[in-house]
Amino acid sequence: MISQELNDTITRTGPGTDAGAVMRRYWQPAALSDELATNRPVVPVTLLGEKLVLFRDNDGNLGLIDRHCPHRGADLCLGRLDDNGLRCPFHGWHFDRTGQCVEQPGEPEGSRMHESIRNTSYPVVEKNGIIFAYMGPDDPPPFPNFDCFRAPDTHVFAFKGLWECNWLQALEVGIDPAHASFLHRFLKDEDPADSYGKQFRDAAADTNIPMTRLLREYTRPEITVEETDYGLRLIALRHLENGQTHIRITNQIFPEAISIPMSREMIITQWHVPIDDEHCYWYSMFTSFTDPVDKEKMRAQRLKEHRLPDYAPLKNKRNNYGFDPDEQATETYTGMGMDINVHDQWAVESPGPIFDRTREHLGKTDVGIIKYRRMLRAAIAALKDGKEDALPMRNGTDPATLFGPISNDTIGDKEKWREVSAQSDAERRAACKGWDATV
Ligand code: FES
Ligand SMILES: [Fe+2]
Repeated sequence: MISQELNDTITRTGPGTDAGAVMRRYWQPAALSDELATNRPVVPVTLLGEKLVLFRDNDGNLGLIDRHCPHRGADLCLGRLDDNGLRCPFHGWHFDRTGQCVEQPGEPEGSRMHESIRNTSYPVVEKNGIIFAYMGPDDPPPFPNFDCFRAPDTHVFAFKGLWECNWLQALEVGIDPAHASFLHRFLKDEDPADSYGKQFRDAAADTNIPMTRLLREYTRPEITVEETDYGLRLIALRHLENGQTHIRITNQIFPEAISIPMSREMIITQWHVPIDDEHCYWYSMFTSFTDPVDKEKMRAQRLKEHRLPDYAPLKNKRNNYGFDPDEQATETYTGMGMDINVHDQWAVESPGPIFDRTREHLGKTDVGIIKYRRMLRAAIAALKDGKEDALPMRNGTDPATLFGPISNDTIGDKEKWREVSAQSDAERRAACKGWDATV
């Protein structure tokens, strides 16, 4: 357990906060490209507690500016998208995508007041279905060469979902390799042939053992966590009866992302992005090492479970996450259906909007969480000392040299987990169709 003061420090990310200062040194997912694929590409974005509006101008360029008009505060989300910018409907002040006021049609003829009016604006970049924003000081860092950014658009599918809780508890479920044996347990095995686009439903690496069975039968993984240039590498070993070991490698990418295997053909890179302190979005990029991603199928699977435009899940705390006691008795550990996102959502929302960590009791399997908090606290302390160059990926490591990271499931000799995993990763990359995944 930790003090209330420390809990506040590591969870709150609004302007002027310690963890918020760390977050602002990294690109943050702000919206899906899908959200702007309309006749009027203007969407509200709330990110790190700041209320913004994202729009695409007539030239096709993106702008992310403060939602409130600097005149008298009207909401620019309902602004007029015209003259290659966004115009406030209240008195017609007109802003370009840099936030510069370029016209004040009601002010006296010849007035140059607009020249000195500049709305807050942040740089944005679109990458394989996600629009990223940089809200920090100085120049944004380059993007790492991770698979989700290197793969062509055809091989990456992006989606998001709303969780009604603080971002840190959302992230912490992703760096907890033990929970999958319980929270995502299926009491019966499904045919792995029906697994496309779903997690934990494929067969385990190079075997015919369904992943569901492996997780169910081996519940005490040996977990090791290593520090890396980009964050953490989590190694979960499940020692099987036949003397072999199931090796699962996942990653924490600083500050708030994870990279995990989804199936033999895909990995997931997922950010847990603070909207405000009590809400977050998960943004996922699903990257394929085989054929192009079937985006229509993956989108349809997920849209069936979410409401637009806010991507709120249809199963949520207001309907008990669809809990069914009969299902819990016979089909799933949770009784909340087959979609593992719903299980995770319940696990992270039910502790409350910001979990009171003065009441927690971390065990040995929580080693990833403990190491992550240490890393976040070190980053906070470094920024307070003015040592921005002590932060992961801002410390002189060239992000362009950061590949992968390796996220996979393999089976092999427990002593040789590193080689076994690396070899399996190299084989997958060598066989990759459609893009050069070799490193
Ligand atoms: S409040 Fe926006 S132009 Fe007046
Ligand atoms: Fe999970």
